[in-house]
Amino acid sequence: MTVLTDEVVAALRPALTGNGPSRVLIDATVGLGGHTAALLTATAPSRAILFDRDPHALALARERLERMSPPCPLTFVHAGFATMAESLARLGVEEVAAIVADLGVSSMQLDQPERGFSFRGDGPLDMRMDPTQGRSAAELLARIDAGDLTRILREYGEEPDAKRIAAAIVRARPTTTRGLAEVVAEAMSAPQRRKLAGRIHPATRTFMALRIEVNDELSQLDQFLSDAPSLLMVGGRLAVITFHSLEDRRVKHRWRALGRPPQPPAHLPLLAHELPRPRFGVPSGFERGVTPSPEELDRNPRARSARLRVLERLAQ
Ligand SMILES: C[S@@+](CC[C@H](N)C(=O)[O-])C[C@H]1O[C@@H](n2cnc3c(N)ncnc32)[C@H](O)[C@@H]1O
Repeated sequence: MTVLTDEVVAALRPALTGNGPSRVLIDATVGLGGHTAALLTATAPSRAILFDRDPHALALARERLERMSPPCPLTFVHAGFATMAESLARLGVEEVAAIVADLGVSSMQLDQPERGFSFRGDGPLDMRMDPTQGRSAAELLARIDAGDLTRILREYGEEPDAKRIAAAIVRARPTTTRGLAEVVAEAMSAPQRRKLAGRIHPATRTFMALRIEVNDELSQLDQFLSDAPSLLMVGGRLAVITFHSLEDRRVKHRWRALGRPPQPPAHLPLLAHELPRPRFGVPSGFERGVTPSPEELDRNPRARSARLRVLERLAQ
């Protein structure tokens, strides 16, 4: 289920209704096309370019979005958003009006046991968003040593029991989602298990950490955050939805750095109005990020950790 849909439309509408005749919309993570469908209905892009690294999701998005008789041409690109700038250059697109990125896995990916993302149900331990490349979680676990696995569980899963869970996984080297979930639940210390009881499954953090590692999610995000702002035209906006603090922190720090004005030349005395202005800023209403309303959380409890942050290009 698409999260923060109205909020994304409100954030990107100003960029997709003004801004002259060329108003390119980018969905960096089209998934099943929920955000794109809402933006095509409520705003007026001149073209939409839609990315996903999951070829299955991309095919379903194409079917859904083309069926709605879109008001502008659609282009579908099977690629990770870390290479978005190169893909756009190949398409001859130099600047865009709006970009949305809704990070992480989709409900569809989580709900398909054969994709290996979830401890509910059983399936091969795959976890690749793009099953056509890279190595699966089972392949990773077949060779990794306990030290490296401890670091992954600690850094990406913030798992307090990382060391004992890693040792148990390396002993068992599970190849299925159920197998991994059982190893983790057995290895977890009693106090930790009591702390999580009734809130989250004991394997939640381990699954998240392995998914981040298998899909290289944080490097993908860093590259995206480095490239995407400079693709925006003046008045263009970038909306990013994160699902955990490792991602949100990166977005927040990048926004902060981009919001600082360029350093004036040290040897030139400047009047206040001549001082360089920041080229990027956070639009009003989005200063602290936006989280789902209580009504949305009632409808979709999976949205509970979502946070939307928005950036606008103010000057060349
Ligand atoms: C939360 S879902 C997006 C849902 C979508 N906004 C919708 O409304 O249907 C995230 C999607 O992003 C894709 N994805 C995750 N990381 C990606 C990356 N680095 N590059 C491209 N797509 C990515 C996943 O394959 C998944 O389909």
